[in-house]
Amino acid sequence: MKRTWWKEAVVYQIYPRSFMDSDGDGIGDLAGIASKAEYLAELGVTAVWLSPVYASPNADNGYDISDYRAIMAEFGTMDDWKRLLAALHERGIRLVMDLVVNHTSDEHAWFAESRKSREGPYADYYIWRNGRGGSCEELPPNDWVSIFSGPAWKYAAERDQWYLHLFAEKQPDLNWENPRVREEVYALMKFWLDLGVDGFRMDVINMISKDRGLTTFMNGPRVHEFIREMNAETLAGRDLLTVGETPGVDPALAALYVGEDRGELGMVFQFEHMGVDHGKGGKWDPVPWKLTDLKAILGKWQRELDGRGWNSLYLNNHDQPRMVSRFGNDSPEWRVKSAKMLATLLHTQQGTPYVYQGEELGMTNVGFPRLSDYDDVEIKNWAREQTEQRGRTEAELMPAIHYMGRDNARTPMQWSSAPNGGFTTGTPWLGLNPNYPEINAEAALADPDSVFHYYRKLIALRKEYPILAYGGNYREYLADSPTVYAYERSLDGAKLLTLLNFSATGQSLSGMASRLEKPGKLLASNYGDAEGAEPLALRGYEARVYLR
Ligand code: GLC
Repeated sequence: MKRTWWKEAVVYQIYPRSFMDSDGDGIGDLAGIASKAEYLAELGVTAVWLSPVYASPNADNGYDISDYRAIMAEFGTMDDWKRLLAALHERGIRLVMDLVVNHTSDEHAWFAESRKSREGPYADYYIWRNGRGGSCEELPPNDWVSIFSGPAWKYAAERDQWYLHLFAEKQPDLNWENPRVREEVYALMKFWLDLGVDGFRMDVINMISKDRGLTTFMNGPRVHEFIREMNAETLAGRDLLTVGETPGVDPALAALYVGEDRGELGMVFQFEHMGVDHGKGGKWDPVPWKLTDLKAILGKWQRELDGRGWNSLYLNNHDQPRMVSRFGNDSPEWRVKSAKMLATLLHTQQGTPYVYQGEELGMTNVGFPRLSDYDDVEIKNWAREQTEQRGRTEAELMPAIHYMGRDNARTPMQWSSAPNGGFTTGTPWLGLNPNYPEINAEAALADPDSVFHYYRKLIALRKEYPILAYGGNYREYLADSPTVYAYERSLDGAKLLTLLNFSATGQSLSGMASRLEKPGKLLASNYGDAEGAEPLALRGYEARVYLR
C-alpha cells in the first residue's frame, strides 16, 4: 500500500471540555491544551484530533455548531487556537479538526432563517417535510427514530412543517441535496485548511445523503458523489489526514469510502466491533461479549481491507466507555496489565491507532450514583424516554449507564493527585472519577512500569519498524480460543507475531507450538521478565510481540 504520514501516525484524541482548564472556570480550554503540548510530545504521538471547538450552545458539547468559523467562547479565542496549532507544529504534531456537517445547531444563523418560512434563500438548507396527519402538526413525516431517542422530527409552527434531526432536537440535519449547502461546507473547510490544519475527522459522514423519499440515511444514494465532490473541491492536492466516522459499514462498503483510487477519504472509523456487546435492544441493552466474536470482527477487517484501503484502530473514544473497563479488567490487580495488553492489540494491527485522552493512563469507567450527576444528552434523552414512557425507575437504568454511558469517557483528565486531579482550580463541569488520586499522569510519568511508558514504547516502535503500520497477510492462530488472541502480519519477508491473553488466568499456547519454536526477537511485552518466560504459555493478561 502507498506509504503516507497518516498511515504511520499515532493520533491522540482530545475532548477539549475535559482535557485541561487554564482559567479556573471548570471547563477545559485551548490554552489548557497548549500547556500540555510537551506531554503529548513526550508520549510520542504525531497527530492530535481535536473534538469540536467551534461556537456552540453545547446541546451535544460542541457537536452542535452555531458558527463554523468561530471558537467557542468557553474554550478561548482564535488567537488561542493559533497558539495551540503552533505549539503542536513546533513539536512535529499535526492537528486534525472535527468536521460536523451532517447537521448544525438549531442556533446556527442558517437554521434561524430556514425555520422562518418556506420561501427565501435558506428555506432548503435543512430537511423539511409536511406531517402525515389531517393537520400538519398531528403526525411526523415518517416514523424515523432519533439516535438520541424519541422521534427524529420536530414540528416548527413558523413554517407549519417538520425538520429532521437524526440526533438531538437541537441538531437539525443539513440538506446536502441543496448545492448551496455543499458550497457552504466546502468554503468553511477551506477556511480551516488555509489556517494550516492537517486534516479532518468527519462526523457521521456516511449519513449526509438521504434519498428524497426518505427511506434511508445510512450510506445513502448520493453519499459517494458528495464525498468525491468535497474531496475535489477541498482536499485534493493537499497532504491531509481524513477519517470518516461511518457507523453501519462492513469492509466492502468501507472500501468504497477509502479505496486508494476512489478519491474519497483516507480511513474510516468502523463500528462493528463496538457492537460486540450490544444486545437485542442495542447499546442500552448490553450483553457479555465474547473474544471469539471480537476476533472474528477485527480479523475480517484486517483481511478484507488489506491492500484495498486503510482502517483506523480504536477501542474507545468520547462516545464509548473506557476500554480497560469494557475489554480489559479494571480491578486493581489487573488494570495496568490489561490496559497494556489492549494497547498492544491496537498498535500491532494494520491501520492507524488512535489514543483517546486518558487511555494512556489506563483511565477507567466511572459509576456516579445518580442520573443528575450525568451531563450527556444521549444518556438524558434515553433515561427520560425509559422513565416517562416505559415506566422504568432511575435505579433500573443505572447499570446500563455505568457500563455504556458516554460520560465514562468524558470525566476530566486526571493530571495529578491535586484537588480535581489538577484539571481545574474551579468546579469541574463534570465530576472526576474518584480514582484520580491513584490513577493520574504525574504518577504515571514517575513510574517506569506505567501504562503511559508502555504506550511510549509502542509508539516509538512504530516509528522504527514499518511492519507495525504496513504489515499485511494477516494470519490468526488459535482462532477458536475464547481467551487467547494470536496473529501474525508480514512485510518484505519479516513477520510480526502478537500474542494476547484476554483473561486473568494462565493460558497454554501449545496449540501453536511449531510457530513458537523460533518466535523471533521480543519487541514488546507487558511483563518485565518475558525474555525468560515459558514460551508456550501466557500469564494473566500477558501480551508479547515478536519480530522475525
Ligand atoms: C458523532 C459524534 C458524537 C455526536 C454525534 C452527533 O457520533 O462522535 O459525539 O454526538 O456524532 O454529532
